[in-house]
Amino acid sequence: MFRPLKCQWFFSVFTRFYTTPYQPRLFFRYQAYFHPVMNHTKTKIMSVVGARPNFMKIAPFVRELSRFPDVFTHTLVHTGQHYDVSMSQSFFQALNIPAPDVDLEIGSGTHAEQVGRTMMSFEKVVQERKPDWIVVIGDVNATCACSITAKKEHIALAHIESGLRSFDLDMPEEVNRMVTDRLSDLLFTTDHMADANLIKEGVPPERIKRVGNIMIDSLEMQRAPAARLDLASLCAANALPGSRHPAPPLHDNRFCVITLHRPSNVDDIDILAPLVNFLIEEVAPVLPLIWPVHPRTRKKLESSGLWVLLQKAPGIILTQPLGYHEMLRLSMGAKVMLTDSGGLQEECCILGTPCLTLRQNTERPITLREHGGVGVLVGNDVERIRTEFREAAALPRTLHRPPLWDGHTAERIVACFKKLK
Ligand code: UD1
Repeated sequence: MFRPLKCQWFFSVFTRFYTTPYQPRLFFRYQAYFHPVMNHTKTKIMSVVGARPNFMKIAPFVRELSRFPDVFTHTLVHTGQHYDVSMSQSFFQALNIPAPDVDLEIGSGTHAEQVGRTMMSFEKVVQERKPDWIVVIGDVNATCACSITAKKEHIALAHIESGLRSFDLDMPEEVNRMVTDRLSDLLFTTDHMADANLIKEGVPPERIKRVGNIMIDSLEMQRAPAARLDLASLCAANALPGSRHPAPPLHDNRFCVITLHRPSNVDDIDILAPLVNFLIEEVAPVLPLIWPVHPRTRKKLESSGLWVLLQKAPGIILTQPLGYHEMLRLSMGAKVMLTDSGGLQEECCILGTPCLTLRQNTERPITLREHGGVGVLVGNDVERIRTEFREAAALPRTLHRPPLWDGHTAERIVACFKKLK
């Protein structure tokens, strides 16, 4: 793979030297090939992150690109959709992601505000830096906004984690996924079901590259340091103040974790309140429950008065949003995970942790029990959650590793870019 590149480089130098019409330009041409800043033969890749679930996916890609400094130049753009230290910076530190080259500082807002502001700021960056490729990841607003901008600026677009579909257009992420995939020139998929979705939508097969799940690269790389974390210290360091009870004793396989952040679960109090009551009355008395609280959810819990009930409840530990290793440690040790996060569903699959997905649908069906995984869709109806919780709490851990979820996805993606050069 490397030999043709060198050949190409040699002929390119040769022709530039010997076709230069006048001598003074020769020197500058020479410099252009050997000065790192002026080297235009490298592929200029600009990748984009915006929100928490992007960070564990970009880390392996950036690391792999950096192994080929003679082939690629890379610019990392952070749109700033997530900005709290616990939602953003802590992941850069934990996963050794270099600081972004550009931070658009978009912040929070309605969807239109976030997407619009991102497009306006990102357009300037693209026009200034003129990348060869823009690489977007996942399905957050940053992904969609930067995809539209890329194509309007006529830049080749690649999407990592392509082809996932919940077929639920009420989810903002589904809109982001469809727009991004429709515009992408290169679509990196996680599994055969994602490929099938894209083919059905008419994407030419040669644009689809099944490479596996890049998030699992991070999981495999960080598994050992995460496993060394002590549960009690982790909780003590991250617990939010206000609990009126001593922390319950924590042992692996004898606690549960819940995370909720989807608008469909947390924005409507008539849905959130029964869920919270169920956790207080039926989960925490059986198994201690750790709840890392997303800022969106916390605002709703506080404004509705549910926060105080949770603080008073014995057996519940409320924490701030956790860092990457801390969350991985909890996912590894939990008896049952209750979540509406797509990423946690996938991680539980690899870790073998029974996972109740509090959604009506999932864009990641490969994580479900009917496809060999550990997940069950339970929606947000308490009756159903109760039944499935009892069943899940009695299950042993069963690991499920879909093909290519092997920790080497970033290598396959970067190899594709090298071939295209
Ligand atoms: C976003 C993604 C979602 C992803 C989730 C992970 C979209 C459409 N949604 O949802 O797919 O699963 O991130 O967390 O892109 N906030 C803070 N601090 C922050 C960030 C947000 O306090 O650093 C608060 C703000 O009040 C904000 C709210 O959380 O309005 C929601 O943030 P936003 O980025 O709009 O969506 P998420 O719910 O985080």
